[in-house]
Amino acid sequence: MQVHAVIEEQRRLYYLDKMGIQTWVTRTSRPQDIPSRSDAGSVTEQARPPTPLDAPAGTSPVAGLDELRNVVAACTLCALHRGRTQTVFGTGNPRADWLVVGEAPGFEEDRQGEPFVGRAGQLLTKMLRAINLAREEVFIANILKCRPPDNRDPQPQEIGHCLSYLRQQIELIQPKIILAMGRIAAQTLLDTHTSIGRLRGSEHYYADTRIPVVVTYHPAYLLRSPQQKRKAWEDLQLAVRVRESCE
Ligand code: URA
Repeated sequence: MQVHAVIEEQRRLYYLDKMGIQTWVTRTSRPQDIPSRSDAGSVTEQARPPTPLDAPAGTSPVAGLDELRNVVAACTLCALHRGRTQTVFGTGNPRADWLVVGEAPGFEEDRQGEPFVGRAGQLLTKMLRAINLAREEVFIANILKCRPPDNRDPQPQEIGHCLSYLRQQIELIQPKIILAMGRIAAQTLLDTHTSIGRLRGSEHYYADTRIPVVVTYHPAYLLRSPQQKRKAWEDLQLAVRVRESCE
């Protein structure tokens, strides 16, 4: 292994350790050990749908996202606007290859106006680091842009109102892969009621595009059920393989 690869590897093992994943990773942790898509049995071998996602004509992602951010900030489509401190639009690289989608802002996110800044967010940052991604490199958004009271699940009509914002974010960013964190994000993005247990482990597509969606557990769930972190690590490895297969 070259020097930079060794350093990168040490960094990755450090973050895996921080995620709470230790001994069992070492066997498959070297980059050359990550199987390619062709020998990755868990990747669903679907033909990619032919329709590419077209960006709105003449809109740069930066300008488009700024404009959309202002629209979202003024949104009163559902009752959640009454309880919010501010909307949580999303953050990161407007030209990101990776779009990470969570559920909805919590207390800290509502206070700071940024997604995934609480405890779950810290774990998300470590999960991303474990696959060599910095937070700033990806774009992080939620299904809902306003905090539901008492951190309850988003209601279908709230999702119905808010989803068009996420759709527009996806059109503007044109990510190469979407990582859906948790059941609500996965079922909403894939427009299904299938359980997260069944959605994990294979590659899906967002709407009628070629954008692959990989599903994993929500970091807040992983904080409550750390024994599931191993499965989350498998999901992240799958996502890396899927992303590499699209290059
Ligand atoms: N959980 C989420 O799904 N999103 C956030 O932004 C924070 C916690």
